[in-house]
Amino acid sequence: MTASTPLSQDELKTLVGQAALQYVVPGELVGVGTGSTVNKFIEALASIKDSIRGAVSSSEASTVRLKALGIPVLDANQVRSLSVYIDGADEIDGRGYMVKGGGAALTREKIVAALAHNFVCIADESKRVDVLGAFPLPVEVIPMAAAHIARRFELLGGQATLRLKDGRPLVTDNGQHILDVRGLRITDPLALESEVNQWPGVVTVGVFAHHKASVCLLGTRQGVKTLTY
Ligand code: 5RP
Repeated sequence: MTASTPLSQDELKTLVGQAALQYVVPGELVGVGTGSTVNKFIEALASIKDSIRGAVSSSEASTVRLKALGIPVLDANQVRSLSVYIDGADEIDGRGYMVKGGGAALTREKIVAALAHNFVCIADESKRVDVLGAFPLPVEVIPMAAAHIARRFELLGGQATLRLKDGRPLVTDNGQHILDVRGLRITDPLALESEVNQWPGVVTVGVFAHHKASVCLLGTRQGVKTLTY
């Protein structure tokens, strides 16, 4: 690679995954998210695994990776609080509000984020948006409520489709389904999160506003930028 070769998206993810190590507190547990960017963080975390107590994981997929690298994984119920939770995002706006759930792990991500004092978002620059909503909003739902919830999103101008895997409805780690909602322009993330979360049958909406990022490590062509909120 020459000095002028722009970094690929994968290389940007590696950079922010490594940069996140500075937020891991020695001797403590770290909250670990889900996704391709977090996978880079997990690889980096292995290099300091002997200096931490272990991790609380937000998905079966991350748990498998953490354990394969010899990092102990604790159940969230064994933990009162975490100093930091590190996770990716599908979109992040200028206030640290995010859309998450592209990897279908949004419910456990929100649970582990709620345990943490700080949410460090790691993302390449393609995730930075002015207004959330261009990425279809993931919503984990109880299957019998899916059609009703889809109709409620229609009233807000959104079109919800059931996420499929191998031609069948995707089943989350929690045994539920995912609706992906297109066409929303989320100008008030706090209000939308509050509203949708109280619709019957919604397990979790993928707006992360009440537990937004406190820091974003954004991978850009100029290097890793640290954005604080
Ligand atoms: C998984 C998530 C991920 O954080 C989000 O989808 C970003 O993933 P990636 O780092 O692969 O782009 O919310 O549910």
